[in-house]
Order: sequence, then structure tokens, then C-alpha cells
Amino acid sequence: MCGIIGAVTDEDAQKSLLDALRRMEYRGYDSAGVCLREQGRLHCRKEAGKLANLEQSLDKKPLSGHAGIGHTRWATHGGPSRENAHPHLADGVAVVHNGIIENHEILRQALTADGVAFRSETDSEVIPWLLSAALAAGGKSTGMDVAWQQTVDQLQGAYAMVALTAADDCLWFARRGSPLLLGRSKHGIYAASDALALAGLADEVLYLEEGDIGRISRSDAVIFQDGVQVQRDWQAIPLAEQAAGKDGFDHFMQKEIFEQPRVIADILSAYVKHGVGERPDIVFPAAPLLDTAPLPNRIVMVACGTSYHAALTARYWLERYLQVSVEVDVASEYRYRNPVIGPDTWLITLSQSGETADTLEALRLFKSNTPDNLALTLCNVPESSLARESDGTIALLAGTEVGVASTKAYTAQLAVLALLVLKIAYQNGVMNEADTKRHLTAMRQVVDGMHVLLSQADRLQALTPLFEDIHGALFLGRGPCFPLALEGALKLKEISYLHAEGYAAGEMKHGPIALIDAKLPVVVLAARKYHLQKVLSNLREVQARGAKVILLTDMRDEDIPDNVNAVIRLPEGDSFTTPLFAAIPLQFLAYYVARARGTDVDQPRNLAKSVTVE
Ligand code: G6P
Repeated sequence: MCGIIGAVTDEDAQKSLLDALRRMEYRGYDSAGVCLREQGRLHCRKEAGKLANLEQSLDKKPLSGHAGIGHTRWATHGGPSRENAHPHLADGVAVVHNGIIENHEILRQALTADGVAFRSETDSEVIPWLLSAALAAGGKSTGMDVAWQQTVDQLQGAYAMVALTAADDCLWFARRGSPLLLGRSKHGIYAASDALALAGLADEVLYLEEGDIGRISRSDAVIFQDGVQVQRDWQAIPLAEQAAGKDGFDHFMQKEIFEQPRVIADILSAYVKHGVGERPDIVFPAAPLLDTAPLPNRIVMVACGTSYHAALTARYWLERYLQVSVEVDVASEYRYRNPVIGPDTWLITLSQSGETADTLEALRLFKSNTPDNLALTLCNVPESSLARESDGTIALLAGTEVGVASTKAYTAQLAVLALLVLKIAYQNGVMNEADTKRHLTAMRQVVDGMHVLLSQADRLQALTPLFEDIHGALFLGRGPCFPLALEGALKLKEISYLHAEGYAAGEMKHGPIALIDAKLPVVVLAARKYHLQKVLSNLREVQARGAKVILLTDMRDEDIPDNVNAVIRLPEGDSFTTPLFAAIPLQFLAYYVARARGTDVDQPRNLAKSVTVE
């Protein structure tokens, strides 16, 4: 989604801005622009399409200056054109904005009546016009601080934004509803929507809070909250943000698929404290309440996209092992359906980024309705808004995930959820020591099992012809593998642009069976632990209608049904680990089909890594 960078530096600001925009490309965008202040004038350059277009234009005719703002835009209001790209300018001011200004139509009408001629279709363009009007009304006596505050006060909706003026060697910023942080180094001070943008530019970062507003100069940052100046802490830039190379892989997604055994090993060594033979001791340091909290009456899990699929799998584990009622919903529905929350209920939000707008609002709704209930988050960015606003955070420890299609953050969520269930079950006496240890031993075996699966990448690549000349693909599973079917289909459609559906295998007869023919490959997840015979009946029904079948299974060779077009063997796991194994071939399948189709695997069209608007 949109990326913001602002820089006031003693170095070449154009270079700083472009470096930062490049590091934010992974977020997904469709146009880009920069604006620099040079000798009391603003110079702007914007291009539709990839950042390379903007870089080419700047190569031909560079801009210079030490203060500037830059933006990668993911279109919401108005298509991806040069006119709609940020920064937006008005009479000596320029603004970049992430979020959505909900009252933009009313503001636009009022500004138009005052003679403003808008140049874009965006909601964002009202901001520079409001700012220039406030400056004009206040004259030199009030100045930018007051004009910026007056501008911000008129906005409804979500924003992270940075403004540059022709008159000043400073930048002004404001944050509400969309992430924004500051960075500093000996060369200057920066504002960005993503810590990754600041890797290489800043040594330290400062995470702004909701409602923060202020200004940065080359050596100073001034922050106000409700009109009062506040101090916020600078911290070393997170290490994870410093490395963002492909390390010899063709794509970030490929690299991230291969990182999964390391991620699982890191999770186990960080959270499982006991040695072999000792009592199980699972500790989540940033969620200490979990060590004493009794079992709740109900657990609500809320997330979006791939994170939602991880929650769906965990529901099976929570209900089976804890015997607690579990509700799982996508955040965009949960927050608007007037959910009945009630006492003695935990909320667990799941998010790779910790900045997904709907998930964040779902948390806020939950906390405002029942402040005494516990709200936990499983999140890959411990400094994110979701982590900071939750009562406890369990870090996913997956490291920076760059590929838009989530892979290692997903399996990290599954692994952490498995440990969470084991911890609560053991602590509350609903799982005995022997069973808890047995499951932990199985979790340790995931690392080796994943290595085996990774070594089969070529076999998955060889299946891509089955996805040629098709009208879609169907993924089927039951129990905890049903959400894996959803995830397998999501991965395929996200990056290959083929239509794919995931279905509960038992639900196939209620609709999708009508689609089945020789041009609809069907991926069947058949795990010994989850209703194997029933899944195999579904498989036969699919075969009887002429579909090509790819079977992912941990069955013994002799039990494998005849005439399946391909079999991918999964290591034998238990109820917690089988989904972790099944994830890898599904990711490979999507990856290789996308590669064969020549799509942009890491930055698929229209998608964003972190969806910071609803
Ligand atoms: C976007 C990403 C998905 C991700 C979803 C939820 O749609 O493209 O990969 O699963 O957002 O994001 P979160 O950061 O909350 O897990």
C-alpha cells in the first residue's frame, strides 16, 4: 500500500528519497513521485507505473535539494495516473498522504467554491489546498505550525502525511489511523510510513503515536499531542529492517519459503524453555498475562487474508484441546457487525504487519466495549500499532517479510498458535505432561520435515503443466486442513492471477462440483489425522468427473488411490504439525505456476503488502 518518505538532510535528498521508495516497493503501488525544495522553490516529478519510470525521468533531469518528500501510491480515489500520483501541490506547499480522507468531498466542494482548480481525482489533494488556504488566512504572523494544525483539524478519516513548503527547510507531519515514524542519523531527520524505508538512512527510529503532529528539521524533531509538546523515545532501528536482499534467490517469496525451517527453529528456541525430560515451559515474554490468566469462556480471533487462514486452523486446535468456544472472523466484517463480546472473552488478533487497518479497528472496538477482557496479538512487527495497543504481543519472529504473498509469517503464525494452545492447555491442566511433551517433540521435528519438503521444490515445479489451459483450480481439505485449502487457493490467485477456490471437501457437493471437468485441477489435502476416508471419497468423486488430481498426503504408499495425477508426500505429523508441512507444497505450487505464467511474483498487480486503509 502507499509509502511515505520525507527527508531533511545534509546529503542529496533525491537519492535518499529514491532509496527509501525502492525499499518500500514491496508494499505494492502503482505510481510514484518526489518533490524537493531548492532555493525557495518546490520541484516535483511524478510518474505512473513502476518506480523505474520515475528513476528514468530523474536520471534524465535530476532534482537537487536537501529537503524533500516522496511517495509510492496504491490507487484508491482515482486511477493510477501521473496526475493522481503524490506529492500534491498547492501554492508553495506539497503533501504526501497515506490513508483516506473521508470528508474530502465536502472539503473539495468548499475549496472549489473558493476558486481552487483541482488537478487530480484524489481525496488527498484537499490537504495541500487546505494548508495553503490556512497559510494565506493566517499570514506570516501565525506560520506553518498553526496552519498545519488548522489543516489537520479539518480532516476526518485516516492519515499519515508529510508536508513540505517552499519557504521552510523543515517538514511537517501528522499521524492518525495510518502508521508513521521518524528516523535520524548524523545526516538528518526523516519521516516514513515503514521502518524498512529508513534502513540505510537512519540509525534510530521513533514510532509516532495516534494523534501526533509536529515538524522535523535537519537536527531536531518537535512533536505535539493535543496541543502539548511531548517527548517520545528514539530506539535503534530494528535489526530485521536492515537486511532486505534476495540472497541469491530469484524472488523474495522464494527466499522466504526457504527461510521457514529457520523461522520455526527460532520460534521454538525463543519460546520453549525446558530441556528434554523437564516439565514443559512455554514462555511468551511480551505477553506475561498469559502465565496467570485462567481459561476464558470464549476466544475471538480476528484477522485478514492469510492471517485469517492461520486463525481458522487454530480454531480446531483451541476447541479440541481447550474445549473453549472459539469465534473467528475477518476483521472487516467483525468491526461492523455489532459483535456481542461479553465478559471473560479473549481477543486474539493475528497480523504480519500489525498495521492492517481493519484488524486494528477490530481491536479498538473490542477494547472500547470490554476494557477488562484480554486482547492479545500475534504479530511479526513488535513495534507496530497492533502490538502497541494490545495487552500482550507474541512476536512471530519471522523476520522482515517482503513478498506480498505471505509465506513464512503464515507458518510462523501456525507454529506460535500451536505453542499457545499447548501452553494454555498444559497450564490449565487440560493436557497432561506426557501429551504436551509429545506434541512439543513433534513441533521440533517440523524443522527437519520442512527441509525435506524444501528439497522437493523441483517436483512441485514439474507440476506446472497441470495448470496450463485451465478455467480455475480447486483446493479441498477437511478439519485443520480446510483452511490450508483456502490458503493454497489464495496463494495461487494472488500471484498467478488464476481463479482458484478453497473449499471444505464435504461442502464440494453443494456447488463447486458443478465446475469440475478436465480443465479444473483439484488439489486434495488428505491427512491421516483428519477424516482421511471421507476426504478420499471426495477425491474419487472429483476423479469420476474427469478432474486432474494433485494429492498432498502423509498416507502410506500402499494406501494411495489409483490414477491421481501427482502425489506430494508430506512427512507424518500430528494435529499441530501437519498443517505446517502442508503449507510448503502449496506455496511452491503457487510460486512455480506464477513463474511459469511470467507474473510479478513479489509485487503482484493490485495487491498491497500491508493494507493500511479499510
Ligand atoms: C494483505 C497481504 C496479505 C496479508 C493480509 C493481512 O492482503 O497481501 O498477504 O495476509 O494483507 O495482512 P496482515 O499484515 O494483517 O497479516
